[in-house]
Amino acid sequence: MKTIASVAQMQHAVADLHLAGKRIGFVPTMGALHEGHLSLVKQCKAENDCCVVSIFVNPTQFNDKRDLSNYPRNLSKDEAMLQSAGCDFVFAPTTDEIYADVEIDKPFEFDFNGLDKVMEGKFRPNHFNGVVQIVSKLFSIVLPNKAYFGEKDFQQLAVIKYMTSTMRFDTEIVPCPIVREPLGLAMSSRNELLSTEERKIAQNISKVLFESRNFVNQKSPADIQREVIEQINGIAALQVEYFEIVNGDSLQSIQNWTDAPYIVGCITVFCGKVRLIDNIRYI
Ligand code: PAJ
Repeated sequence: MKTIASVAQMQHAVADLHLAGKRIGFVPTMGALHEGHLSLVKQCKAENDCCVVSIFVNPTQFNDKRDLSNYPRNLSKDEAMLQSAGCDFVFAPTTDEIYADVEIDKPFEFDFNGLDKVMEGKFRPNHFNGVVQIVSKLFSIVLPNKAYFGEKDFQQLAVIKYMTSTMRFDTEIVPCPIVREPLGLAMSSRNELLSTEERKIAQNISKVLFESRNFVNQKSPADIQREVIEQINGIAALQVEYFEIVNGDSLQSIQNWTDAPYIVGCITVFCGKVRLIDNIRYI
């Protein structure tokens, strides 16, 4: 495994691989890796000749500067994990290597066709502009045949599929299932910021979501939405920011279970000061 920090070196490595007819799989990350990330890396390695993983804490997708400075960083630990998962290249550039100053100061313009106006988009203005900005840049550098994204960040996956299609990237987007801790909490780099007590409490988020699935035939989406929010807000230290039951393709809210062939409930909950996201497929 080789770690590369410069864009030019990464481009050279990619050019050599493409010339040799190798298929490149790509997993973009912000580091602080856990088993959730590694499941993407292992799938990527199994399905491609060469697996490239980027580690870059992208400043333009953070609305809250404190969240950016608190974001956990540990490159040498990440490298050891990636090596054992079969990664071939780690691309770990600095911010200056990726962005000109003017790019950081103003939001990247992209027409999301409404995908950015719901859920995360409502609460994190311009967050997805930053995600599209960095992922499109990374795709242009790594030129992957396939790129792997977790269903944990459900809205991000929808945005990336839309971006790939409108920007005409020749890259197949591969969705990967959510990896959870044994008691159900969706793995996340942000879990490291929870105290031991908070981590126990946070397990209730997935517990309530899973239980709510049992009532799909008896209750309306609106009733399930209200009850999930009430149950989670009833637990000390948990505060729901939003819980929406949506068409899994358009991300628009649904009224009836027959409104879409693919229906997902997406939630964001504060556990103390830590913002956690999760989702569950209903239909
Ligand atoms: P990051 O949060 O590091 O996540 C990198 C990838 O790992 C994303 O595709 C995310 O959905 C996936 N992932 C995280 N936790 C997971 C879990 N428990 N199960 C399955 N997959 C999981 O998402 C980002 O970084 C950034 O926004 C990025 C796309 C890299 C752009 O900066």
